[in-house]
Amino acid sequence: MIINPLWWQKGIIYQIYPRSYQDSNHDGIGDLPGIRQRLDYLQSLNIDAVWLSPIYPSPMHDFGYDVADYVGINPLFGTMADFDALLSDVHARGLKLIIDLVPNHTSDEHAWFQESRRSRDNAKRDWYIWRDPAPDGGPPNNWLSFFGGPAWTFDEKTGQYYLHQFVTQQPELNYRHPDVLPAMLDVMRFWLDKGVDGFRVDVIWLMMKDAALRDEPPNPDWNGIEPYQSLNHIYTQNLPEVHKLIRKMRAVLDEYDERMMVGEIYLPYDQLMSYYGDDFDECHLPFNFHLIHANWQARSIRQLVDSYEAALPAGATPNWVLGNHDQHRIATRVGPDQARVANMLLLTLRGTPTTYYGEELGMEDGHIPPEYIQDPPAVNQPEIAHIIGRDPERTPMQWDGSAHAGFSAATAVPWLPVAANYTTRNVAAQHNDPTSMLSFYRALTALRREEPALNVGHYTAVDHNNEHVFAYVRSAFGRSFLIVLNFTGETQEVGITGYGEKAPITLATHMQRHGSVTLPQFTLAANEGLVLKI
Ligand code: NOJ
Repeated sequence: MIINPLWWQKGIIYQIYPRSYQDSNHDGIGDLPGIRQRLDYLQSLNIDAVWLSPIYPSPMHDFGYDVADYVGINPLFGTMADFDALLSDVHARGLKLIIDLVPNHTSDEHAWFQESRRSRDNAKRDWYIWRDPAPDGGPPNNWLSFFGGPAWTFDEKTGQYYLHQFVTQQPELNYRHPDVLPAMLDVMRFWLDKGVDGFRVDVIWLMMKDAALRDEPPNPDWNGIEPYQSLNHIYTQNLPEVHKLIRKMRAVLDEYDERMMVGEIYLPYDQLMSYYGDDFDECHLPFNFHLIHANWQARSIRQLVDSYEAALPAGATPNWVLGNHDQHRIATRVGPDQARVANMLLLTLRGTPTTYYGEELGMEDGHIPPEYIQDPPAVNQPEIAHIIGRDPERTPMQWDGSAHAGFSAATAVPWLPVAANYTTRNVAAQHNDPTSMLSFYRALTALRREEPALNVGHYTAVDHNNEHVFAYVRSAFGRSFLIVLNFTGETQEVGITGYGEKAPITLATHMQRHGSVTLPQFTLAANEGLVLKI
């Protein structure tokens, strides 16, 4: 158990996709003053830190993950003064602010790349990864873009290809050049000096590529759907050399007090753990995304949790995520009723939880008519847009039942259509309903905040007689809770022994349920979860 935990070891991180949170100037795009107007709401969620997806100047080919200036603010989102005001207000409320750092690639409009593409002998040429064409004139190797097509684009003027694993307009920086990392570390210092509390680091496990640019082998398990998955990415992902970079990034954070970085890493647990660093000198938190792609059944989830717990190095801070701006929403994946169980799981497991905006309302994926599709992988690969497109999980925050859900003025045109269910599933409607998803979320986060057993306590899985129910105990300082979660849409009978007879209900997903249960024999309603005091 963590004694004297730091904020990122026990707090809740709340991710805001700034384009979609609150539009204050009626241009249909969310902005920093809009977020600032919503601080009361954020505080009412009992979250501890806000993470902002990128707010930098950008031509928006990948909605801000194509950064044209690492030390500026995109006028679409506001000004640096707006950022400073937001940061100061966030801090005044005792909250933390984390920003997205995108070190793997820049926009092709970044001054560094503009220089680099000028000529083969430009001083910044090798800040990016340029190669001659293959003998047949094609790309230098078989590497693929996540967003469809080859990972190489030919530059007519200088006669070479440059590497980009996302859109063409996202050239990848070359961290084998000695000047690139120091430049990025200076970017970090710029924001840390301003007082930001940390970074969510984009695709941190991709920052190094094979020096020899070897072809990647075919993936024998490819399901034939997403072309990117047809190769085994052994030369573009998770290279051993990446750890040296991350240690240097961490050292910069360690120059300051209580700052942190959470790394975006999609890897199996045995490999993910290496990103804590051999001596806890890399990521404070390597994102644990395994709930996102999990088989949503009690047995598989228990197995997943137990394998994560077993793989964690002693002393490492765990973390859990249900969704983000790249993944279909949890309420769509498991259904709105089961989404309460998912949140009870997220907020009672051991480790720092991350909530994606709208999860607290049970927001579902929006329907995006074909003419509105904007996300690059979906635009590039229309035949699989319904599977890989990320617009559906990025629709505007649902504040109230008025036009555009209160996200934007009635006269504005939101950049993505608001999800159809906004008239009923919105903050205003749920705020005064004591049994709403929002009220449930607030009760859960309040409980988590006040109980060390839940925010830093031990975790122990509990064996019992029903395979559709996942049960575990969290405990600290002599206080313990038993959490029981029904992963099905049917009533379940459960018997748990070894924790006494009667256990009072501290919190139920179905908030009207109070009283206690008789542990050796009790009933869980469909999609019901209980936090029991034992
Ligand atoms: C991961 C980000 O989460 C995603 O939105 C983005 O498209 C890619 N990295 C490229 O930056």
